[in-house]
Amino acid sequence: MKQGIQPVKADTFFANRFKDKVLFVTGAAIGSIGAATAIRAAREGAKVFCVDIKEKELIETIASIRDLGGEASAYIADLRDPSAAERAVQECVQSYGAIHAVLNAAGVMDGNDPSKPQDFENSLHLLPAHIHKATDEYWHNVMNANINAMFYCLRAQLKQMMQQGTGGAIVNIGSIAGIIGLPGNPAYSTSKHAVTGLTRNAAIDYAPYGIRINSVNMAQTDTPMVFRAYEFVKWAMEKGMGSGMAGLKSKSLLSHADPAGRGSTPWEQAAMILFLLSDDASNITGACYATDGGWTTY
Ligand SMILES: NC(=O)c1ccc[n+]([C@@H]2O[C@H](COP(=O)([O-])OP(=O)(O)OC[C@H]3O[C@@H](n4cnc5c(N)ncnc54)[C@H](O)[C@@H]3O)[C@@H](O)[C@H]2O)c1
Repeated sequence: MKQGIQPVKADTFFANRFKDKVLFVTGAAIGSIGAATAIRAAREGAKVFCVDIKEKELIETIASIRDLGGEASAYIADLRDPSAAERAVQECVQSYGAIHAVLNAAGVMDGNDPSKPQDFENSLHLLPAHIHKATDEYWHNVMNANINAMFYCLRAQLKQMMQQGTGGAIVNIGSIAGIIGLPGNPAYSTSKHAVTGLTRNAAIDYAPYGIRINSVNMAQTDTPMVFRAYEFVKWAMEKGMGSGMAGLKSKSLLSHADPAGRGSTPWEQAAMILFLLSDDASNITGACYATDGGWTTY
């Protein structure tokens, strides 16, 4: 009989691990990996500055943190705008005085604006497609959100951390698509490989400043992005289009082994992210961790 593994509980935390620390999180709307990380970090004593393009959902994250007695602020921004990250960092420093730790989690899987209701029928040109059918708009929107925005964020965050002169830790979110190829979504795979490259470059260049920079690379994790991907695959199948995204391999090792076939939860991702941001990870930098339930093992 198959034996499943219980996921980390949503209310697991280590008291005071991030006491007096300021954590800057991009992509923190409720339900996301960024939100789970922000909520747990706040329980562990961090002041959390949360950025997202989705206003209502970001405010829900802040409300969850405050309900638990934590300290957090919301900043609504489209991080594809090169100056938005600079303004967000300034605002964070104005509110909390410094930035000690960062999670860059904002990302998209297609070329649509995540703050707008999804409408596959009227946004065909923005949806994932094989290269010979892919549009410029799809390509540039995904690259802008997943890698250009991360570059703008890192630039602003690193300048601030260097100015503080007290080191720090950064985690960038990549994907299994940043380690191996995935079918059907060329811009996503390319942008996530770029996250791996940017993480390794930054780790080398900022080690002399005491700043550690790592990435986490997950497979299916239960967030709004995955629900959207399911909706997309279902819609494409119904249209007889085939999505190109489901084909070759659809499960991680642990998902295959689990009686219910479960993927990962945002809380499982938050556990690893916060370990990497904590002082326990003092010897870890430039690593691109496969937090993928063994997806890239086989
Ligand atoms: N969920 C998964 O299965 C999975 C798998 C691999 C990698 N990832 C990566 O994990 C990260 C977090 O995604 P998630 O799963 O929590 O999904 P999510 O959609 O819940 O969270 C991503 C957040 O980023 C925000 N965002 C996107 N573009 C933005 C922009 N231009 N400006 C500001 N905010 C923006 C979205 O509004 C959203 O709240 C992403 O980088 C994603 O690519 C997720």
